[in-house]
Amino acid sequence: MERPAPEGDRHRRAFMRLLAGSPLLARAWAQDPLKLTSAKDALSLMDFEAAARRELPPAHWGYMASGVDDDATLKINREGFRHFQLRPRRLVDVSRIDMKTEIFGEAWEAPIFLSPVGGQKMFHSEGEVAVARAAKNKNTIQILSSATSTAVEDVAKARGAPPWYQLYMPVRWEGTEKLVHRVEEAGCPVLVWTVDLLGGRNLETAERFRRMDTRECQTCHSSARGGRATSELPMYKGIEGGFNPPAANWEYLDRLRKLTKMKLMLKGIETREDAKLAREHGVDGLIVSNHGGRATETGRSTIEDLGEVVDAAGTQIPVLVDGGFRRGTDVFKALALGARAVGIGRPYVWALSAFGQEGVERVLDILRAEVTLTMRECGTTSLKQITRASIATVSAG
Ligand SMILES: Cc1cc2nc3c(=O)[nH]c(=O)nc-3n(C[C@H](O)[C@H](O)[C@H](O)COP(=O)(O)O)c2cc1C
Repeated sequence: MERPAPEGDRHRRAFMRLLAGSPLLARAWAQDPLKLTSAKDALSLMDFEAAARRELPPAHWGYMASGVDDDATLKINREGFRHFQLRPRRLVDVSRIDMKTEIFGEAWEAPIFLSPVGGQKMFHSEGEVAVARAAKNKNTIQILSSATSTAVEDVAKARGAPPWYQLYMPVRWEGTEKLVHRVEEAGCPVLVWTVDLLGGRNLETAERFRRMDTRECQTCHSSARGGRATSELPMYKGIEGGFNPPAANWEYLDRLRKLTKMKLMLKGIETREDAKLAREHGVDGLIVSNHGGRATETGRSTIEDLGEVVDAAGTQIPVLVDGGFRRGTDVFKALALGARAVGIGRPYVWALSAFGQEGVERVLDILRAEVTLTMRECGTTSLKQITRASIATVSAG
C-alpha cells in the first residue's frame, strides 16, 4: 500500500503546480529565486539585484537601473564579455594566490574598486557613509561622486582616510576652483574628472519608472521631477550655474591640471584617440567607462573598448575600467587586456539598498573570491601573470 506523502511534500507539490500554472508567479520566482533576507546568503552579485528591487520605490529603482535611449549599451556591457574567452593553463602550483595591485604608489588587496554613484541616501539611509565603512573594512578604493548626498569631509571621517573624488565640473570656472580646493583640503589623493556627460543624455527608462511612482517627489526633493537642484547638493553649496559645461575641451583639462596637485584621471574615455590626447595633456590615469550604459548610447561595451585604450595609453599610466562587471571571470578578462583595476557600480548599490554596509562588504567578498578562483583555474598566481595570452578574442559576427 502506498503511504501518503508527508505534509511538507504535498504543500511543495501544490506550490509547484500553482507555479507551473501561473506565468506571472513563475517569472517572479525566476527573477528572485533566493528571496534574500540576509547578505551572507547571497551566492553571486546578481542575487542582490532582486533584493534591491524589492526594497526600492519605483522612481529610485528606475533611476539606478536605467540606461539611455533603448538601454542597448547597458545590455551590451554584459554581452561584450562573451567576445573574450579564458585560456587556462594547467599543472601550475596555485596553492597561493596574490591579487594585490598598486596604483599611484599605494597597495590594494584586490584589483576591484567602487565606482562613483551619486545620491546614495536614495538607496539607504546611511548612504555614502555605509559604503565608506565597507571600503575601509575591505581596504578598497571608494570614488566619491560629486553628486554625493554626504559631504566629502564626513565620508573621509567614516572611511578613516579621504576617498578618491569624482568631479562633475561646475559650469563657471570659479566654481571649479572652489570645489577642487575643498576636495584638496579634505585630503583626497586622486581627482577623477568624468567627461562622458558633457553633451547631455536621455535617461528614458528612469523617466518611465518615475511616472509609475505615486509618491510625491517634493517631500524629499526640491524638484517635482525628482532629483535635487545642484545648489542643494552638499558639494555644490555656494556654487552657482550647474555642472558639466558643454563647452569643455582639452584646454579645460590643461587648466584643471594646473589647478591641482592631486593625481588627475579622466573617466569616460573609450577610444585610442582620446587616450592619446589625454596622455599628451598630462593625465595620471584613465578610467574606461560608458557610465554603466547611461551616457552615450554607443552600442559598444567597455570590455571591447579597453584594449585600444590600454595600447594608446602606454605602460606609464594606469588604465582602470568599469561597466557591467559582475563575475570574477569578467574581472580576469579586463586584467588580461591590461586594466590595473576594475570598478563596480550597480552591484554595490543593490547590496547597499538591501543590506547597507554589510551588503557592500559581501559584494566585495564574493567578487574577490570569484577572482581568486578564476586565477587558480587559469594557473595565474599573481596579477602580472595575467596577460593577453590568458584570453582568446572571439571575432564578432
Ligand atoms: C545610479 C547611478 C549613479 C551614478 N552616478 C555617477 C556619478 O555621480 N558620477 C560618475 O562618474 N559616474 C556615475 N555613475 C556611473 C558609475 O560610476 C559606473 O561608471 C557604472 O555604474 C559602472 O557600471 P555598472 O553599474 O554596470 O557596474 C552612476 C551609475 C549609476 C548606476
